[in-house]
Amino acid sequence: MAKSAPLRVGILTAGGDSPGLNAAIRGFGKAAIGHHGMELVGFRDGIRGLAEGRTMPLDPQALSGILTVGGTILGTSRDKVHRMLVDGEVRDMVPTVVDNCDKLGIDALVCIGGGGTAKNAQRLAKAGLKVIHLPKTIDNDIAHTDTSFGFSTALGIATEAVDRLHSTAHSHHRIIVVEIMGHKAGWLALGAGIAGGADIILLPEIPYSIDSVVTSIQDRAGRGHSFSVVAVAEGALDTAGAAELAAAESLVREADTPEGKATAKKHRASVEASHRGRTFELATALERATGLEARVTILGYVQRGGTPDAADRMLGTLLGGAGADLVAEGRFGVTVAAQGQSAVPVPLADVAGNLKKVPLDHPWVLAARHVGTCMGD
Ligand code: F6P
Repeated sequence: MAKSAPLRVGILTAGGDSPGLNAAIRGFGKAAIGHHGMELVGFRDGIRGLAEGRTMPLDPQALSGILTVGGTILGTSRDKVHRMLVDGEVRDMVPTVVDNCDKLGIDALVCIGGGGTAKNAQRLAKAGLKVIHLPKTIDNDIAHTDTSFGFSTALGIATEAVDRLHSTAHSHHRIIVVEIMGHKAGWLALGAGIAGGADIILLPEIPYSIDSVVTSIQDRAGRGHSFSVVAVAEGALDTAGAAELAAAESLVREADTPEGKATAKKHRASVEASHRGRTFELATALERATGLEARVTILGYVQRGGTPDAADRMLGTLLGGAGADLVAEGRFGVTVAAQGQSAVPVPLADVAGNLKKVPLDHPWVLAARHVGTCMGD
């Protein structure tokens, strides 16, 4: 009987870059080629390269030596497949992507990315493509997976920064406010705040009161600690800001026409934008209220750079290899989730659009409170 042609599998990385992306590409690729005899096609720069048909070879040579390399050898972008800016106009590129995959003989597509990529993958699956999604983000905000690769490395980077900021805060009797990534979910700020021993941790999930923060700093000073380290997630909001955003979000939910929803989403985006970059304002307010000097450190993209730690190398390898097995078994329309020590296929429909926020009663929140950390409330 004639041997069937090898399965041709496209791979792309999308959304914010993170350590571990190349470990996942390598994990999938080596398993797909070595165990399942598949052929791989790398798509450049995420969904945009997929829509433009821009590819690169992903053969054993391309996969060699990338386990420890930061970023993504494929490149990435943050495009939405159904609303892509092409030649100055916003277009639905799903039909073009389906056509490209057909022309290139792509039998299955692996989308490695965060929440936005899961949404893109779900749209492509609905259009009939055989898709799997691997969970990547330093934010760890993807539902139904214990963690995502990139998070562990970013946690280590942010924790070391908090550690180092303690010595300058103590030496200068200062308030050091360190902004940690995590726009909608505070996992990174919470983890690094606990591990780094921050005195105050402010999360998007727990609207803060400036008075509570001031009181905490003053109480510390009263106990002889005339310095404080404040770990603040970039998406943390005070109670007024949180109320404004909640109102904007309810308008989006209540909108009952496409035009109304679009207007409400624009309003929500402007409210979110108006509250971004408030870390310097927070530091100034704390300095005025406490009389202690305050300084700001924005960790930014340092948290996404460089070589993955051991945990992210292992996670990328585990989920990547499991993804190759699922493709070989014909299991599509799933996210390859990390659950316990296993890789578990979870329906994309359950993951796409489902943000994993920090529950208020999460053990990490309780752990922070147990050691006297002020959570701003
Ligand atoms: O999604 C990961 C992340 O690093 C967020 O923590 C951060 O808010 C965002 O990406 C920054 O996006 P960009 O890389 O497009 O500036």
